[in-house]
Amino acid sequence: MAQPKIIVTGGAGYIGSHTVVELASNGYTSILIDDFSNSETFVVDRLAKLCGGEIRCHEIDCRDRSAVARVFEEEGPISGVIHFAAFKSVGESQQKPLAYYANNVGSLISIVEVMLEFGVRDLVFSSSCTVYGQATELPVTEASPTVAPASVYGATKQICEQILRDAVASGVPLRASRLRYFNPIGAHPSGEIGELPLGEPQNLVPIILESVAGQRGPVQIFGGDWSTPDGSCIRDYIHVVDLAAAHVKCLAWMSEQSEDSLLETLNIGTGRGISVREAIATFERATGESVEIVEGDRRDGDIEQIYASVERAERLLGWRAERSLEEAMKDAWRWRSGLRG
Ligand code: NAD
Ligand code: WQD
Repeated sequence: MAQPKIIVTGGAGYIGSHTVVELASNGYTSILIDDFSNSETFVVDRLAKLCGGEIRCHEIDCRDRSAVARVFEEEGPISGVIHFAAFKSVGESQQKPLAYYANNVGSLISIVEVMLEFGVRDLVFSSSCTVYGQATELPVTEASPTVAPASVYGATKQICEQILRDAVASGVPLRASRLRYFNPIGAHPSGEIGELPLGEPQNLVPIILESVAGQRGPVQIFGGDWSTPDGSCIRDYIHVVDLAAAHVKCLAWMSEQSEDSLLETLNIGTGRGISVREAIATFERATGESVEIVEGDRRDGDIEQIYASVERAERLLGWRAERSLEEAMKDAWRWRSGLRG
């Protein structure tokens, strides 16, 4: 039997590339759509090496509806779509709101329209725990309230979630799973793919990597006076390979459902809250490298703590995060060291 074909938008990006590897090892063929606005073409060659065969990749902008339709036409029949393509920098989104709304919202609409045109029902969409803001009860469940977005980036995720909700409610044959990722970190254990250091990093682990690699000064801890056991913020850091695996499980689960229209929302995290200080200490333990730190002020827009309830994903998908924080840190450092070498 032919392998099911999955369109992976943003498939050359950080989470997309790891998902392509997981799809291959679970008997799916990935068809990539990426405009390389935040990735490099060498990633596609690395994916071919990791997946053991040619990777089909179309260099187009998801907003170009007729170009996307041509891909569905040429590559079909398509079994499902994983839509990663989006701009993701919170800081940049405040500087370039129109570009963020246009890309993140425009890409989703274009993809869903083409899916409906070609009768492709199953969509996995990349959402974010940012929709919860600072929750009053932890861990957050999918039923926890969403709050007014703190950034344009966060707003685009909420709008996309609403678009999917409304499209499904209208009764069109669309089955959409909105995966709310917590904090993805780490890299593939092979060291072949990982998060590319493009632009100025804003996230904790890329900043640690740059600092330890000698490309920036000490890591600033953003606030030591939060109401947490060690005074630093708490997050739920998930190994990117575990996150990638959740997408494969989600596609399999959707394909077993009998409904023509379906909307699902799932937290994808580990369920464990880790402080900034613990994360840094774990990096040092895992890699044997020391991290220089300085105490800094709180960062604007940061929340104190968040971590996921992952019961729903466990129950529905039979998935859970398996890799430790140590592994994630070790894998991130291996990837970064390879890039330097
Ligand atoms: P990434 O920037 O590494 O990957 C996104 C990919 O999409 C890139 O390869 C980029 O070139 C491509 N792309 C962007 N716009 C495109 C367009 N219009 N057409 C075609 N390709 C386009 O980002 P990532 O970290 O892999 O994130 C993937 C998704 O997950 C995004 O939707 C992001 O918002 C979401 N997300 C990421 C995080 C995180 O911390 N990394 C957390 C929660 C949610
Ligand atoms: C983690 C912790 C910082 C850098 C962001 C987006 C969110 C989602 C994931 C996409 C925080 C602290 C960081 C530093 C520090 N992305 N920190 N010094 O803020 O949880 O979430 O990425 O959807 O939408 O907002 O992740 O990695 O930036 O920060 O002390 O130099 O590390 O305060 O507590 P965050 P992060």
